[in-house]
Amino acid sequence: MMRVAAALSGLLLAADPAAWAQKFEELAPTPPMGWNSWNHFECKIDEATVRATADAMVVSGMRDAGYRYVVIDDCWQGARDADGFIQPDPERFPSGMKALADAVHSKGLKLGLYSDAGWTTCGHRPGSRGYEFQDALSYARWGVDYLKYDWCDTEGLNAEGAYQTMAAALKAAGRPIVLSICEWGDNQPWEWAEPIGHLWRTTGDIAPCFDCEVDHGDWSSWGVLRILDLQDGLRVHAGPGHWNDPDMLEVGNGMSEAEDRAHFSMWAMLAAPLIAGNDLTRMLPATRAILINREVIAVDQDPLGIQGFRHSAAGDLEIWFKPLEGGDWAMCVLNRSASRQRLELVWQELAVDDALADRQTLFKARLYRVRDLWTGADLGTTRRPLEAEIAGHDVLMVRLVRVLDAND
Ligand code: GLA
Repeated sequence: MMRVAAALSGLLLAADPAAWAQKFEELAPTPPMGWNSWNHFECKIDEATVRATADAMVVSGMRDAGYRYVVIDDCWQGARDADGFIQPDPERFPSGMKALADAVHSKGLKLGLYSDAGWTTCGHRPGSRGYEFQDALSYARWGVDYLKYDWCDTEGLNAEGAYQTMAAALKAAGRPIVLSICEWGDNQPWEWAEPIGHLWRTTGDIAPCFDCEVDHGDWSSWGVLRILDLQDGLRVHAGPGHWNDPDMLEVGNGMSEAEDRAHFSMWAMLAAPLIAGNDLTRMLPATRAILINREVIAVDQDPLGIQGFRHSAAGDLEIWFKPLEGGDWAMCVLNRSASRQRLELVWQELAVDDALADRQTLFKARLYRVRDLWTGADLGTTRRPLEAEIAGHDVLMVRLVRVLDAND
């Protein structure tokens, strides 16, 4: 009797779509890292560029620094065949997606693709609406590892339901695929997406500027500071396996070196996915040095997976903290202004209490070594005040390394 009941409940589970609608767990214990074609190439993407990017990811040291996913964004799609299966654009991807996935995998990397929950993508290619299970099957057969799923042309659709359908389709296709939810924060995905996807966009699109709004007519894209400010209040929703996504990186896409450094630092403080968006085959050494800074990446990828928070602001300077493993902390001081600012900080006067993670720095009782993550300089300990000058649109980012004493 017991056995029959167990078998029956197994059957019920298999027949219950809600049971499929759970994502593949364990795919994103830390924020995903990789590259995506959109920010630099937009619709002008082809297989030669993807192969060259995968090569560059290895040669530049990015793979060894933790970058894994090579994601082809919009405009790879051609038409559907007579049976409804999506085909890559035959002119841009003549070898097909399976061969491209094999090539990317052979370099120790993973392949990502883009689709859309609506009838058409934002770039007016076929979307997945009505073809979700069929498309997921194609992705699985090709060896795709990551799907960015957009939200254009979705009139009449319920966002949670639409993303649940694609999560269920991926689960049914059987290949573990990261689901990157891209509905721009319109329907508060942080409130419902944790069981469905591994990351969700919190805002509209980023633009390669520090503090601007780019007007596209019926929508706007936003500079780094605007996107940063829109993250307010969201940290409670992020953690291992489910991340707030403030959009892909614009490092190397035209901002100043200081701005690129500030952007990368703040994304690390946010435990954001680090998805490079520049042309990896033609990067300046300064761009590369920012993208592969291992100590900054370690802040982003810290195993605790606690998103950082704005602790305080004084004039144009903001102080952010992020708890790290081993009792360490990251601190980033962001200069929002274009002019140089002076910082003087007496650690013992700072009360840093992260109620969400139940962690306190306790600077009066605990000692930390202070390490500058951009210069690599040892700045002494928290026994003495920190004095620094921070250039316009730049940061001072340090790791506070807990020095244990005999009482610990
Ligand atoms: C939307 C997304 C972008 C990009 C484009 C592609 O705007 O938010 O990140 O994927 O579509 O068309």
